[in-house]
Amino acid sequence: MRATLKSTSNLATFACDTLVIPVYEDLKLNSDSRALDKASKKQLAKILASDDFSGHLGEAVTLRGIAGTAANRIVLWGLGDKDKLNRQAMVKACDSLAKAVTALPGKHCAVLSSFKTNKAVPTSWAIQQIAARIARTTYLYTTTKPSKKNPVTLARVSIVNADSTAANRQAISQGVAIGQGINIARELGNLPGNICTPKYLSAQARKLARQHAAIKTTVLGEKQMQALSMDSLLSVGHGSVEESQLMVINYQGGKKSQKPHVLVGKGITFDSGGISLKPGARMDEMKFDMCGAASVIGTLSAIAEMKLPLNVIGVIPAAENMPSSKATKPGDVVTSMSGKTIEVLNTDAEGRLVLCDALTYVERFKPESVVDIATLTGACIMALGHHASGLLSNNDDLANSLLTAGTDSADRAWQLPLWDVYKKQLSSPFADLGNIAAGGAGTITAACFLSEFTENYRWAHLDIAGTAWGQAGGKGASGRPVGLLCQYLISLAGKAAV
Ligand code: BES
Ligand code: MN
Ligand code: ZN
Repeated sequence: MRATLKSTSNLATFACDTLVIPVYEDLKLNSDSRALDKASKKQLAKILASDDFSGHLGEAVTLRGIAGTAANRIVLWGLGDKDKLNRQAMVKACDSLAKAVTALPGKHCAVLSSFKTNKAVPTSWAIQQIAARIARTTYLYTTTKPSKKNPVTLARVSIVNADSTAANRQAISQGVAIGQGINIARELGNLPGNICTPKYLSAQARKLARQHAAIKTTVLGEKQMQALSMDSLLSVGHGSVEESQLMVINYQGGKKSQKPHVLVGKGITFDSGGISLKPGARMDEMKFDMCGAASVIGTLSAIAEMKLPLNVIGVIPAAENMPSSKATKPGDVVTSMSGKTIEVLNTDAEGRLVLCDALTYVERFKPESVVDIATLTGACIMALGHHASGLLSNNDDLANSLLTAGTDSADRAWQLPLWDVYKKQLSSPFADLGNIAAGGAGTITAACFLSEFTENYRWAHLDIAGTAWGQAGGKGASGRPVGLLCQYLISLAGKAAV
């Protein structure tokens, strides 16, 4: 999908397939849409005065056969109460608009920028989100269901009569990049475990390097990981015929001297639980256990498209967690790359076992910050449901930047404490650490485990078990938290469309 700013002195003559007119609950038209109303012999005013459109948030009413317009059809788009419109509400409205316009025929959709008066929702940000949420909605999973064709014909979005400022121009192209990054993450998440294996993920990481001159990818196989003493990571894949992989995706958009920001994504391409086998019900959903990895790939693709002036390194430890006679057993003790020994009390707590070695590995990059993203604990769904990702951090500034990015992108996270009292729950009589903890607070103790490997840098952990798939948006991967991560990196780059 392409998206650009367009201007016209007469909206009635603006040719497109679908013309979207944003209208608040006060049902007032701006000067552009008033001119169009005049050209249509007051047909718009008549509809606004009727019960067919009330302007409530997210309403989208399609009008066909309107006289005096070069558009094939008009969509009246409700933005609700102007004073109550915030970013969360705007994204909701963008999603229902996106649903409406992607279901309509035609290639070109134009959105009038008459929302520019509200201060809580800056115009450039609104432009970014309209582009991002429409781009996101053009996606439909068809890869293993060829009988289903994606019916979306929309390929072009114009934002009409927004000021042609650098911020607005940047916002619209950033929006498309974010939407496409989200869809890359969704597609990888949705692919079944027999296709999306660790090697498939590393092929995708390599593909990013072919697509973007600023990206270089290296992939370590099991032999190379053995040489680095990553026995914790390797222990997870022992029961699988699929070879474990460690991907390093290096995006250099900043100066060589700039310290990199590192994103580490959990890439368990299927989590059966291993010898601590999961129950059968909904085990199929454990193909989504690589959504952290998918969000790293989607985010790197987006920031490369945006050409952010930053250095970002994506690191993905990928493995398949299966039972077999070669699999790691409960009670086995492994030595992590850091030298700390771990008693594997439950082979289903495997995410932390792959992440800890990846987190030790990234020390070599002398990172400015490290954020790991993982579908780590079912307990996170108990704590926060499907609305917010869990956030835990050893640095309050970093935590606050991520929380703000979550609010600003309507891809929210909520912080949980990382207190020492929880760390005690991980003690083991046979190793430095147990991989599970007694006493509840599963999301916190999982993060406490990771914190044992992140003492040398600013680090935050996003638990996306509740947000990565299967939300109100329907079955399948959501692409979260690509929106949050992009917003975080855009802000760091000082190129914020906010
Ligand atoms: N991938 C799961 C976490 C998960 C479960 C995410 C359900 C989304 C939905 C993770 O590897 C896991 O199995 N965690 C265990 C940890 C426990 C054994 C301490 C869990 O949450 O039950
Ligand atoms: Mn597990
Ligand atoms: Zn898992």
